[in-house]
Amino acid sequence: MLIAPSILSADFGNLACDVKAICEAGCDLVHVDVMDGHFVPNLTIGPVVVSAVAKAATKPLDIHLMVENNTFFVDLFAPLNPEYISFHIEEEKHPHRLVQYIRSLGIKPAITLNPHTPPEAIEFLLADVDMVLLMSVNPGFGGQKFIGSVLERAKRLKALIEKHNPACLIEVDGGVNDKNIEELKEADVDIVVAGSYVFGNEKGYKHAIDSLKI
Ligand code: DX5
Ligand code: ZN
Repeated sequence: MLIAPSILSADFGNLACDVKAICEAGCDLVHVDVMDGHFVPNLTIGPVVVSAVAKAATKPLDIHLMVENNTFFVDLFAPLNPEYISFHIEEEKHPHRLVQYIRSLGIKPAITLNPHTPPEAIEFLLADVDMVLLMSVNPGFGGQKFIGSVLERAKRLKALIEKHNPACLIEVDGGVNDKNIEELKEADVDIVVAGSYVFGNEKGYKHAIDSLKI
């Protein structure tokens, strides 16, 4: 299991220190939640702050766009050279075109699905993406309760991935902790995003990350 701590739950007053600390603690990716106050009822960070995150990080960035105007935001963040940029299928009229565009910028394209969106909605995009991000909470906030139906969605997605693009990874985001990590592993999930569980862990970041690496 690869671990991508979400910096949404980091201490923004000491962001560079927190980013360095999770990288030293053994995370695999640094998950960056970009919210525009329109697609979701919250507003987070733009390229100025994320460039400081990129400087502090010794692991690749995983940028999760929760925005209305995807192409505008792809253009803002592409110069920071993230490993992945994911966008929500619910907010994109031309997802096939946007996937090709992200790849043309040298970035791995990924598609995100809200908790109600069936994996079949993206069956004919799977051949062209490197990762699918399944939301296990409604996007917008950290610290929400895990929605268990993501397990069935992951299994259905895995069957479609086997058919169309076995190299495509499955990432799950929201409410992940040491209680549900086993079932996520059984559902063939490759990467988990964890915000409040990692940054709020009383035993420290390394303990939290190690407890998810099963
Ligand atoms: C929610 C974000 C998540 C969030 C996860 O919209 O996409 O990445 O930060 O936080 P936890 O792990 O606390 O649910
Ligand atoms: Zn996220």
